[in-house]
Amino acid sequence: MPEKKVLIIDADVASRNFIARNLLDQKYDVIQAGSGKEGLIYAWRDRPDLAVIDPTITDIAGEELAKKLKQDSRTANMPLIALSSDPSVTRVKSCLDAGFSDYIPKSGQAVTMLNEIARRLLGVSAAPARKGGLLMTFLSAKGGTGTSSICANIAMNIGQNQPESRVVVVDLVLPIGSIAPIVGYEGAQNIVTCTEMPLEETTPEFFRDKLVELKPWRFHLLAGSPDPESGNHLKVGRVGDIILSLKEAYDYVLIDIGRSLSRITLPLIQQADLNVLIVSTDISTVSLSKTILDYMKIKGVNTDSIFAMLNRAVGLEGLSRPETEKALDIPIKVTMPYLSSNMGFANSQHQPFTLKFPKDTASIVFQDTAKEMSNLAHNLRAK
Ligand SMILES: Nc1ncnc2c1ncn2[C@@H]1O[C@H](COP(=O)(O)OP(=O)(O)O)[C@@H](O)[C@H]1O
Ligand SMILES: [Mg+2]
Repeated sequence: MPEKKVLIIDADVASRNFIARNLLDQKYDVIQAGSGKEGLIYAWRDRPDLAVIDPTITDIAGEELAKKLKQDSRTANMPLIALSSDPSVTRVKSCLDAGFSDYIPKSGQAVTMLNEIARRLLGVSAAPARKGGLLMTFLSAKGGTGTSSICANIAMNIGQNQPESRVVVVDLVLPIGSIAPIVGYEGAQNIVTCTEMPLEETTPEFFRDKLVELKPWRFHLLAGSPDPESGNHLKVGRVGDIILSLKEAYDYVLIDIGRSLSRITLPLIQQADLNVLIVSTDISTVSLSKTILDYMKIKGVNTDSIFAMLNRAVGLEGLSRPETEKALDIPIKVTMPYLSSNMGFANSQHQPFTLKFPKDTASIVFQDTAKEMSNLAHNLRAK
């Protein structure tokens, strides 16, 4: 494959050289621009495959630059990554609105993140196998489809099937998480408090040593926002580097995204090894799920990574499995039966379903599905 060309636009010479050296190490062709104006000229003349821009440049603001590049047919399809010295949420939002596909705050993990995102955007595979634990997200189009219950119970079964593996669950549902009440965690530490910590403290070692392990559940927990007010304080720009640290510290990182598919969670879905979409059979959820699927495809999420799971959380009414598959236009990999009040009962006692009801068919479904998901994630990673 010919070398991919990356344009760096950054007024800070030291920062620009540092990024350039890293990209050259990754075997990219590199073009450097010290101002927005210069960047536009090189972009239109040399047609790079990707641009890495510090949006805080002053001659043309990054957002303005992005709009110009997106409006010009020569560069309209060139992906833009913001590598920014401004970690504020407003800046993240304005840049994503302006056409940047990813926002990386300059930090200790920035280069690792940049390499991973650049590989994804350019469709190049990393020379060494992708690093770190396997990443799985759990998402749904609507609340109440059983996403959190399934995420917690799959995590437990992965831990049970592979006692040598280290598993962590991250609750990213906003404005309020729900894994903590399911597993009975009442500690003060959560995703919001972790994003407020200084960058140099949220290391893999920190997450390896300081996240509680929930005994009957066999996984460690990074709990979600405990209330909407805390949720508002989540430092969005830190989520990416925290997930990277977690991947270094754990073999499996399972993220409950719930129905919070957003600009915060999309980059995680794009880099996940497996994305589990939980669907219930009522017509409105199925149709919303189709919208979510179409959106994921537009955003370049690998279709192979999508694992659709039908959960009969609302009982037997609604569409059949074939009808649901037809409406979604993807195969349903697993169906979880209606468990009447048993799921709620296990949750309210903070018990994993398979321990509370070991003879129930659903326990076998959980065990088998956990195996299938980890096998699939492993295989997709190896590709
Ligand atoms: N297969 C099922 N059968 C019966 N009840 C279920 C099933 N799956 C989930 N539930 C119940 O549905 C409710 C919502 O589950 P939850 O995991 O919180 O969903 P979500 O995270 O999608 O909002 C809970 O009371 C849970 O016990
Ligand atoms: Mg939930």
